[in-house]
Amino acid sequence: MLDVSDLTVAYGQAVALDQVSLTVPERSITAVLGANGAGKTTLVRTISGLVRGRGGSVRLDGLDISRLAPERVARLGIAHVPEGHGVVTELSVEENLRLGSMASRGGGVRQALEESYELFPRLRSRRRLSAASLSGGERQMLAIARGLAAHPRLLLLDEPSLGLAGQVLQQIMSKLRSLVADRGLTVLLIEQNARSALSVADDAVVLALGQVVAHDRAAKLAADRDLLGTYLGF
Ligand SMILES: Nc1ncnc2c1ncn2[C@@H]1O[C@H](COP(=O)(O)OP(=O)(O)O)[C@@H](O)[C@H]1O
Ligand SMILES: [Mg+2]
Repeated sequence: MLDVSDLTVAYGQAVALDQVSLTVPERSITAVLGANGAGKTTLVRTISGLVRGRGGSVRLDGLDISRLAPERVARLGIAHVPEGHGVVTELSVEENLRLGSMASRGGGVRQALEESYELFPRLRSRRRLSAASLSGGERQMLAIARGLAAHPRLLLLDEPSLGLAGQVLQQIMSKLRSLVADRGLTVLLIEQNARSALSVADDAVVLALGQVVAHDRAAKLAADRDLLGTYLGF
């Protein structure tokens, strides 16, 4: 579904991604793992059109999206949940979800809200509260629900585990799995937390200093002790 090919991105002289190639199959979860500074956030920001590549391409079902503005990319069905959650803390839970549904490619606001509350019942009971009053786990649920309210085909999730307790994280990950099965969602899951990501992903890519050093089935990478030790600090 998504094909990244020879993608090079630089900030001035500093190369953040160096000829990165990877594919994300439809209806699956692909994890992108790597240490701090590996280029993970740069990759998702480039896919969503916020950063321009210097070379290479990003294709969605064969269509080159690498020169499109972020709003065009969003309208093609790619939703980006940024690092650090990206909810508007000045707004209520429901107002955040309404904003998310504005980018929707179908279905009304009411439907998007109902789907969000079905997915994360905690959000329903907190719907009138300010997003600032939520716990870290609830904020991440809201950020994901807000991304899903746009009814994307592809969800880009940048480090959802940051600052979350293991149990909340497991809960969120199992919801993701069911969305892939039930709604045909495709997920690109960026994670420094390799253990949780490998347990939920179908495939995984390991980035190190802007280069792809491994791309395989997640279960296979999870069993590769040398690789985990060298690049992911196990
Ligand atoms: N806006 C920026 N300006 C300059 N350098 C940046 C910027 N964003 C990221 N970088 C650099 O690019 C590299 C990759 O960063 P990033 O994509 O944030 O990695 P990760 O998400 O894996 O931690 C790092 O060396 C980082 O310092
Ligand atoms: Mg990052």
